[in-house]
Amino acid sequence: MCGIVGYVGRGEVVPVLLEGLRSLEYRGYDSSGIAVHTGEALRVVKKAGRIANLERALNAHPLSGRCGIGHTRWATHGVATDLNAHPFLSQSGTFAVVHNGILTNYRALASDLVSQGVTFSSDTDSEAIAHLIERLYEGDVLSAIRSAAERLEGSYALAVLSLYEPNVIYGVRKDSPLVIGRGKEGFSLCSDISGIFDICDAYCPLGNGEIVRLRSEGAERYDAEGRERPISYLTRETEDCLGGQYAEDRMLSEIREIPRALSLGSEHFPRGALRRLLVGTGEDVLLLGCGSAYHAGLVFRAAMRELCGVEVRAEIASELLTARVPVDERTLVIALSQSGETADTLRAAERAKERGAHLLSVCNVRASSLVRLSDDALVTRCGRECAVAATKSYVAQVQALLQICLEYADIMGKITAEKLDVFRRELDALPAKAAHLIGEEGRMAALASRVKGAKAVFYLGRGLDYAAAREGSLKLKEVSYLFSEAYPSGELKHGTLALMEHGVYGVLVATDPALTEKNAATIAEITCRGASAVVIASESVAPHLPAECLLTVPDAPPLFSPILSSIVMQQLAYFVAKARGCDPDRPRNLAKSVTVE
Ligand code: AGP
Repeated sequence: MCGIVGYVGRGEVVPVLLEGLRSLEYRGYDSSGIAVHTGEALRVVKKAGRIANLERALNAHPLSGRCGIGHTRWATHGVATDLNAHPFLSQSGTFAVVHNGILTNYRALASDLVSQGVTFSSDTDSEAIAHLIERLYEGDVLSAIRSAAERLEGSYALAVLSLYEPNVIYGVRKDSPLVIGRGKEGFSLCSDISGIFDICDAYCPLGNGEIVRLRSEGAERYDAEGRERPISYLTRETEDCLGGQYAEDRMLSEIREIPRALSLGSEHFPRGALRRLLVGTGEDVLLLGCGSAYHAGLVFRAAMRELCGVEVRAEIASELLTARVPVDERTLVIALSQSGETADTLRAAERAKERGAHLLSVCNVRASSLVRLSDDALVTRCGRECAVAATKSYVAQVQALLQICLEYADIMGKITAEKLDVFRRELDALPAKAAHLIGEEGRMAALASRVKGAKAVFYLGRGLDYAAAREGSLKLKEVSYLFSEAYPSGELKHGTLALMEHGVYGVLVATDPALTEKNAATIAEITCRGASAVVIASESVAPHLPAECLLTVPDAPPLFSPILSSIVMQQLAYFVAKARGCDPDRPRNLAKSVTVE
């Protein structure tokens, strides 16, 4: 799971590729590299580590040309070293390739190539592609790439340079995303629009099996059978980066953008369509997603229980792919994804559609693969999210799902008109309450300096608070590397209590006044074993809870509390990561979009 970029145009290609790679770094940052056609040869510079390392190497060994490809890597096959970094040159240096995806038949391909005398210089699956294209070349680059693509199994998006064609880039994809961009100065291709945002006016996502040939003056697109296809460009959306005023770290900026994201809500909330869908599919609703997106689905599930007394299903997308989860034409599948490019979610959504389900996506990127696959889409408008940790996008997803929940309650007569009105007003009040919490972020620094040395941090809660706690725990572990898990508070005494001792922290989410007594008991269970309790409580609940460390959130109906408590947990995770010297924007081993299964 990596990011690829390519450019052919009138100006120098290296600065364009570097800029593209910086924007794509969220897809992986174990190593990066570029290949340039100098007019005489294909030259490669690549380095393990962050893009700054590549820039230093390029300063020492400058490259010049108008046509090139680049790659930023999240390692799957082979550790992050200079040799395993992309691009890869074929044995005779006639082709250079960058790859995003995973080849499942790589061992067979590699042993075949080795038996033909090819020597591999890396431990990656991707290197085989460069050698394969070279072996298949018989005077026509396009045919060689097509023949190679036919032999590849697994997922791939490739950008290819050939020594034989000085001002041309080729791209081809299957199950990994690739878009082409048309700009005033030339043509580009990229894993997603963010990497070529500043150099294209229009873009076109490529379909599975399609191949493109780009020159500075034009682009050609072919289907898998080699038939030329017209290219219909889409106007570049103004990716509404909300703030523009970045704090030291993107994660913190993105948390601060939450009030604005909440006030923008979703693009064209399709109320009528939702009504028809929800009524048409009865009560069989299945939520799909990974990581934070799945956690947003858990909030929806808890909210549907709480408000409508209805059981909806929430599945981790990869589980739908492996377990026999019942889905048919009566199921409304709601696929959740910030990026719309997460491989597990895409595959699971495809599988659900094959079984006849109606697919509604809640996604933050209109041009994404998921939105294109969906029958209906609710596109959140929280702007581009760059930090690996989902913050504003999670909150925006929860907001969109709660709107669906209210709509459902209304349609099914689960709520009175008066109550619905109160809830809608509460939804409208959320941006101001979120802004209040952003103003309180200063209270986190002192707490973070205590939590930073924790042996483990357990997140606890009941009902909706537990759903929110799941996300809080993920946030802390991914950016601070502290061990953390989430449990329903009632489960504590069934095992996890054994781990409570001095140096361990329990973060209890306690926003529901109806649960105050139970929450007070949980605090006692934690603290009397010597562990420390951090309690996130709503203002009216806080005075009744015997906790040394209370983080208050504004009062709101329990349904909406996950939005507010999660902001506090995101802030806690961020400040603990900083206190521990971690880079919250680019946590180790992770990438923003997981485009491999
Ligand atoms: C969240 O902080 C994570 N980085 C991760 O769990 C993420 O939510 C997950 O990979 C799903 O991504 P998506 O929303 O783009 O599909």
